Amino acid sequence: MENIENTNVNPIIRVENVSKIFDDHIAVDQVSLSIYPGEFFSLLGGSGSGKTTLLRMLAGFELPSSGKIFIDGKDMAHIPPYARSINMMFQSYALFPHMSVESNIAFGLKQEPLMPKEAIRQRTMEVLEMVQMAHLAQRKPHQLSGGQRQRVALARCLAKKPKVVLLDEPLSALDKKLREKMQFELVDIQEKIGTTFVMVTHDQSEAMTMSSRIAIMNNGALEQVGRPNQIYEFPHSRFTANFIGSTNMFEGQIVQNEGDEAIIATEEANCLFYLDHSVEGFENQKIWVAVRPEKVDISVEPPEDYNQENPHNCVQGVVAQIAYIGGLSTYHVRLPNGKILKATDFNVERKANNPTWNDVVYLSWEPSNIMVLSS
Ligand SMILES: Nc1ncnc2c1ncn2[C@@H]1O[C@H](COP(=O)(O)OP(=O)(O)O)[C@@H](O)[C@H]1O
Ligand SMILES: [Mg+2]
Repeated sequence: MENIENTNVNPIIRVENVSKIFDDHIAVDQVSLSIYPGEFFSLLGGSGSGKTTLLRMLAGFELPSSGKIFIDGKDMAHIPPYARSINMMFQSYALFPHMSVESNIAFGLKQEPLMPKEAIRQRTMEVLEMVQMAHLAQRKPHQLSGGQRQRVALARCLAKKPKVVLLDEPLSALDKKLREKMQFELVDIQEKIGTTFVMVTHDQSEAMTMSSRIAIMNNGALEQVGRPNQIYEFPHSRFTANFIGSTNMFEGQIVQNEGDEAIIATEEANCLFYLDHSVEGFENQKIWVAVRPEKVDISVEPPEDYNQENPHNCVQGVVAQIAYIGGLSTYHVRLPNGKILKATDFNVERKANNPTWNDVVYLSWEPSNIMVLSS
């Protein structure tokens, strides 16, 4: 499932067939994964999918029940958390309430046996500059806003120059506006310092916006790993197609499959899906076809090649609902059998005669935009 792109670079983290079993519950299920230096890598999945457990195993707070973890090429089996060149930022930030911002950060550095006082001070101020908090160095945590506390926690993480920073839902405590601002700030800081970040999140848009690559987790297992656009445009499973973004999906049967085309029939849409390529490995198993809403064209006129008897890559329906959001509109179109399809139209032209409620419309799509899924 994994696509390794930087095969000429050694991974900074290599997870090999790692499982974690609590009592009789499998929290992480045979995960294999490589993360490369400088990546902003996200573990994305619903609540309870095993993200935190996997992150805690990277940090060394949990030991795998089976499998191996390598950091910078070294087997971590017997390496305690403090001896790993990795630092974790906790969901709660875990700042000491009675200490100033500066002391909170210096605290970790003071555990370094050979670091002189002046060097500690210098490094502390350096990381506070990085997160634009130097001017608030003497404040206590309760005198800071949520976003500022988050920056201090990040600065503390960075102080010892770890090779990898682990972040567990770092923005979940912030309100929506601040969260969006911090998404950009975090990516900005990460790009400047070049440290590898591994972030856990359940928020798909957050993962899509921030990450160089995403690993989708489902029930402890990896569903798919890839760049945000790969995961969105080429999902490997119905789970991923539904989890990321919105999609129109139909169960189908292959009725023709040869040369450079295939035809898939869907009773649900009463329509044939004509593909511009043959499909392999789908024999004798269930198959689904899916098209993203923004790849569906909506019009009140039938397309030129519309075939009423045997429609292909086109269905007729009635507009049931319209979500108009200014820049785009999403039409909910009801097919004769009651199934609802979504078509998103970008409002690039000012028009007063867009389809409206109860209009009969045609929804059509290009063969190249059909996703074929087997599981
Ligand atoms: N220490 C633990 N003991 C028992 N079960 C645990 C423990 N930690 C996590 N789990 C279980 O493992 C599963 C995955 O948890 P977690 O990794 O926290 O998921 P996520 O971070 O994706 O929400 C959950 O079902 C959770 O209840
Ligand atoms: Mg979690």
